[in-house]
Amino acid sequence: METPKNTKPYALITGASSGIGRDLAFVYAKNGYNLILVARRLENLQETKDNIELKFNSIVIPIKLDLSKPESANTLFLEITNLNLNIETLVNNAGFGISGKFLDIEIERETEMITLNIITLTRLTKLFAKKMLETEGGKIVNIASTAAFQPLPTFSSYSGTKAYVLYFTESIAQEYKNTNLNFTVVCPGPTKSEFMETANVKKVKFFNMPTSMQVAEFTYKSSQKNKTVAIHGFLNNLMSFLLRFFPRKINASLASKFIE
Ligand SMILES: NC(=O)c1ccc[n+]([C@@H]2O[C@H](COP(=O)([O-])OP(=O)(O)OC[C@H]3O[C@@H](n4cnc5c(N)ncnc54)[C@H](OP(=O)(O)O)[C@@H]3O)[C@@H](O)[C@H]2O)c1
Repeated sequence: METPKNTKPYALITGASSGIGRDLAFVYAKNGYNLILVARRLENLQETKDNIELKFNSIVIPIKLDLSKPESANTLFLEITNLNLNIETLVNNAGFGISGKFLDIEIERETEMITLNIITLTRLTKLFAKKMLETEGGKIVNIASTAAFQPLPTFSSYSGTKAYVLYFTESIAQEYKNTNLNFTVVCPGPTKSEFMETANVKKVKFFNMPTSMQVAEFTYKSSQKNKTVAIHGFLNNLMSFLLRFFPRKINASLASKFIE
C-alpha cells in the first residue's frame, strides 16, 4: 500500500489505544506531527485516527500489535522500515502494572509485563535510536512512573520495571548528550486512565489525580525542552526529592499505605 505523503515529521506512540497514549496522539497531531499508533485494540486506534484526521491535517497509521512478546519490537521496526518512514519521535508509552502480593501473581502475566515495560522498550529504543543517529536525529521519550523512585509493596515487579526505565534512560541520555539524539524519561504519578483497573487496584487513596491529557501535554513539552527527567506535578516532584533523605525501609512502609 502506498503511504500518503506530507512534509510533517512522524511520531511513533506505543500504547495509544487509551489513557496517556491516546491523548499523546492528539497532542502530537495538534503540534504538527503525523502519527504511527500501536496497541492491541485496533478499533480504539481506528477511532483516534478518524477523530484526528477530522481535526488536524495529519496522517495516522494504526498498527495492531501485542508488544509483550520479545520479538514484537523487531516486527514493528521492520513494518515501519518497509513503509519507508523516518521517525522523528518515539514515545515508549505502552505499559501496565499488576498489583498484589508477589506469590499471588501469576508468573506468565508478570513476564508479559516485564517484557512490555522493559524488553520491548529497550529494543525499540535501540532500533530507532540507531536509525535516528544515522539520519536526522530525533527524540525518544520513555514513560516511567513515580513508582521508579521507591520500593512499592504490592506493586513490586512493576516498580522494578519503572526503576529500570528511569535509570536506563538517564544513562543513555548522558552517553549521547553531544549528539542529535535526545532522551527524556517522564515520571507521572497516579493518573486517571485504565491503568488502575488493569492493575486490579481495588482502592486508590489518592485525591486530585491529573487527567491523562494533562500528563500527555506535560510529556510533549518536556520532550520539546529536551529535559532528561520530567516528573509530573508539584507534589510528585517534592515526594521524589524528599524520599532521598528517608531510610529505604520507611519509604517501603509509607508506600504500602496508599494502595490496596
Ligand atoms: N495511570 C497511572 O496512574 C500511571 C502512573 C505512572 C505511569 N503510568 C504509565 O503510563 C503508561 C500509560 O498508561 P496509562 O495510564 O495510559 O494506562 P492505560 O489507559 O491502561 O493504557 C495502557 C496502554 O498500553 C497498551 N498496552 C498494554 N499492554 C499492551 C501490549 N501487550 N501490547 C501493546 N500495547 C499494550 C494498551 O493498549 P491495548 O490494551 O489496546 O494493547 C493501552 O493503550 C504506562 O507505561 C504506565 O505504566 C501510568
